[in-house]
Amino acid sequence: MQQEFDQLEAAALAELSRVETPVQLEEWRVRYLGKKSALTAALRGVASLPPEEKRAYGARANTIKSDLQQQLAVKQEELERDSIHQSMGGAALDVSLPGRSLPIGRLHPITQVIQEICAVFARMGFQVIDGPEVERDFYNFEALNIPHDHPARDMFATLWLDSKESPEARLLRTHTSPMQVRIMEVHKPPLRFVVPGRTYRYEATDATHDWMFHQVEGLAVDTDITLRDLKETLFEFCRSMFGRETGVRFRCDYFPFVEPGGEVAIECFQCKGGGCRLCGGTGWLEILGTGMVHPQVLARCGIDPTVYSGFAFGMGVERITILRHGIDDIRHFYSGDFRFLRQF
Ligand code: FA5
Repeated sequence: MQQEFDQLEAAALAELSRVETPVQLEEWRVRYLGKKSALTAALRGVASLPPEEKRAYGARANTIKSDLQQQLAVKQEELERDSIHQSMGGAALDVSLPGRSLPIGRLHPITQVIQEICAVFARMGFQVIDGPEVERDFYNFEALNIPHDHPARDMFATLWLDSKESPEARLLRTHTSPMQVRIMEVHKPPLRFVVPGRTYRYEATDATHDWMFHQVEGLAVDTDITLRDLKETLFEFCRSMFGRETGVRFRCDYFPFVEPGGEVAIECFQCKGGGCRLCGGTGWLEILGTGMVHPQVLARCGIDPTVYSGFAFGMGVERITILRHGIDDIRHFYSGDFRFLRQF
């Protein structure tokens, strides 16, 4: 019996060395380790042997079985390795090669500048919130002292979503100022907020005007807020954003929801004040409208204008980015041109 075992093992190993495919390997397994194999029969036969032989033959049969199982696993691994190698077209796998680098995404320049603007105001104690882009006539106009027949509606060429007769009519907000009202309806003074977001106007585009652009609205309401606070806050913002050397111009302007109103312009980076196509020959680029919150707007939001006062501003983010990075046309921002966007 000992001899039979030796022959069986030798035959099995010899055959295994000739196996070349997974199918052949399975056939080999069935033949030598399957239920009907000679080895399984020999193991069953051990039971009928006399007790003095049982131990030795039983142990031998089990050793052969585990040896063959081990060799089976080795062969299996070898065949798998071969198949991977073949599927790679026979090329050697160089595990020391560095991995392929994937392109790293980045924030859009406008998002970066919005974050920068909000960070400047956060340092001055302003909270950042956002608001709806689809607005009601009431918030975009009525509550800001711009009733239906007011000529100031012409300042904001509007993209309407409903027929424009009712105060409930929906539109794409033309500025972020409706958030002044929404904030004051909910929060009571003292309050300081900035609101970044998209705004829309039904306008022809040129180097400094787009039909969709971003604004950051600002609102501060408290007792004793004066025009001086407004100017100092905005000058501090301009110094942080453009440096001390850049010229800043503050002029009076009219907006129905502030009194008095003003605008801030920054020296044109391209012509340094001399006048060029970008600044329309003026030497200045207007970046924001501002003013002291109109007492009527405060009162409409339930804030007593005899006790409280406030200032508000709305700045154009694309214009600020143009000045910040020396960009010659607003239309680059949404052209989807990666050669432009990769620079930021
Ligand atoms: C307003 O939108 C007022 N809501 C600003 C305001 C807020 C005044 C609070 C008083 C108090 P204006 O239309 O001027 O104002 O727009 C403000 C800024 O948005 C402009 O200075 C400019 O920087 C930018 N802007 C306006 N129109 C466009 C446009 N078509 N494309 C790009 N930027 C624009």
